[in-house]
Amino acid sequence: MNTAHAGLMDGVYRWQTPIYDLTRKYYLLGRDRLIAELDPSQDGGVLEIGCGTGRNLAVAASRYKAARFYGFDISRVMLDAAEAKLDRRAALAQADAATFDPQAVFGRKGFERVFCAYTLSMIPDWRAALTRAFDAVAPGGRIAVVDFGTQRRWPGPAKAALRAWLAAFHVAPRDDLLDVFASLAAERGFHARTRDILGGYAIYATAQAPV
Ligand SMILES: C[S@@+](CC[C@H](N)C(=O)[O-])C[C@H]1O[C@@H](n2cnc3c(N)ncnc32)[C@H](O)[C@@H]1O
Repeated sequence: MNTAHAGLMDGVYRWQTPIYDLTRKYYLLGRDRLIAELDPSQDGGVLEIGCGTGRNLAVAASRYKAARFYGFDISRVMLDAAEAKLDRRAALAQADAATFDPQAVFGRKGFERVFCAYTLSMIPDWRAALTRAFDAVAPGGRIAVVDFGTQRRWPGPAKAALRAWLAAFHVAPRDDLLDVFASLAAERGFHARTRDILGGYAIYATAQAPV
C-alpha cells in the first residue's frame, strides 16, 4: 500500500465527505449510465475500484437487488463514509488499486462486473491499477471505466481552466487512458467500446471478456 498516497487522499477528502455526493453529481458525469448498464446476473459479483463514499455501490445495490457488491478504496476517510451508507450485501476494504489482489482482499479470484469511476485520474500508477482491474474480470464478465477525458473538442482556454481546477484536487486526466484501455482489452481478447461525454470532458469505456 502506498501509505503516502493514502494520507494524501485522506487529506483531500477529510472535510469533503459530508458534501461529496451532493457536489460531485454535477461534474462526475456518466456514473449513472455506467450503473444502468452494469446489469449483473443473479448473484453476480460487482466490484468498484476506488469506491469513495460508496455512492455508486449504494445506487447499484438499490437497482440490482440480487447482486453482491464489493468495493475498496485507499482512503480510510472515504471508507468510513461508505460503511455508513451500505448494508451487508456490500463488502468493503482498504486497498491500493495499483497492487490490488482480489483473492487476498475479498477471497475471490474474479468478479462479473468491475468498474472504476473517476478513480484512475487520482492514482499515480494508474496503468498498474487498470491492468489489475482487467485481471479481476471473471470469464464472460465486463469492465467499465468512466473518467476525465482529453477535452478534445474544447477550446484551449476552457480545457486549461478545467485542468487547473482539477489539479487543485490532485486529479490529472490520463490523456492516453483510451489507448491503454484498448491495448489491455486486445491483449486479453476482450471486446472494447468507448464513448465521449461532452466533447471529451469525460470518457466511458467498456470491455467484454470472452467466456
Ligand atoms: C474522485 S473519487 C471517486 C469516488 C467514486 N468512485 C465516485 O464515483 O464517487 C476518487 C477515489 O479514488 C480513491 N483512490 C485514489 N487513489 C487510490 C488507490 N491507489 N487505490 C484505491 N483507491 C484510490 C480516492 O481515495 C477516492 O475515494
